[in-house]
Amino acid sequence: MICQVQTLQDAELAVAGGSDVLVAKGTEAGGHTGTVSLLPLLAGVVARFPDLPVLAAGGVADGRTLAAALTAGADGAWLGTAFLATPEAIEVDEIHKRLPVESDGCNTVFTKAYDIVSGLSWPVGIGERVRRNRFTDEWGEREAELRDGRSALASPPISNRFDAPFDLDTCAVLFGQSAGMIDSIRPAAEVVRSMSEEAERILRTRPEALLT
Ligand SMILES: Cc1cc2nc3c(=O)[nH]c(=O)nc-3n(C[C@H](O)[C@H](O)[C@H](O)COP(=O)(O)O)c2cc1C
Repeated sequence: MICQVQTLQDAELAVAGGSDVLVAKGTEAGGHTGTVSLLPLLAGVVARFPDLPVLAAGGVADGRTLAAALTAGADGAWLGTAFLATPEAIEVDEIHKRLPVESDGCNTVFTKAYDIVSGLSWPVGIGERVRRNRFTDEWGEREAELRDGRSALASPPISNRFDAPFDLDTCAVLFGQSAGMIDSIRPAAEVVRSMSEEAERILRTRPEALLT
């Protein structure tokens, strides 16, 4: 069993529940995630569970970030945002592929606003990282008000509609901070190959350069 964990406490629970692989997921990640950044979370998870395979998720999308995660103790990486901008992402609207390419990685927010509107009850501490827009600007800091007034919203924003064009001002467009590393839409195999080759190059040269 593989479990994505957002806190050390989640990791303890996942291991107690029989997880064979842990995915340490930082707040940088696109979609549902927690509030802890990848590096401190990953360091804590690998220190606590040295015998379990641990993957790093959140903010890994090129060779440099992959090399950093591996150096910090991860056994691999789990990617989401990087695979949005690929032809293989067949359930993803074309505009959802283009937006991460256009992003510098700084136009995302962590918010519970969409989950509140959807009426979904996610655990405390879990929210979504989405593209910042008019809806998140308006409601992101007003969770209590949004909870109270949920039914009054004439047309609740809907995420990931495949059958209708996005209203970019209101719809949740999920992607993470690693969007800043994505420059084009290209095949998934190419994403993996170039990332691996760059990470290998860095891992072969950088540690030695630092230590001599
Ligand atoms: C569009 C999108 C949809 C996602 N949907 C899910 C999901 O349904 N379940 C899940 O566990 N994680 C989901 N994730 C999170 C990914 O599995 C992954 O942990 C995350 O994207 C890794 O961080 P990154 O976006 O920085 O690569 C989603 C991520 C994105 C970008």
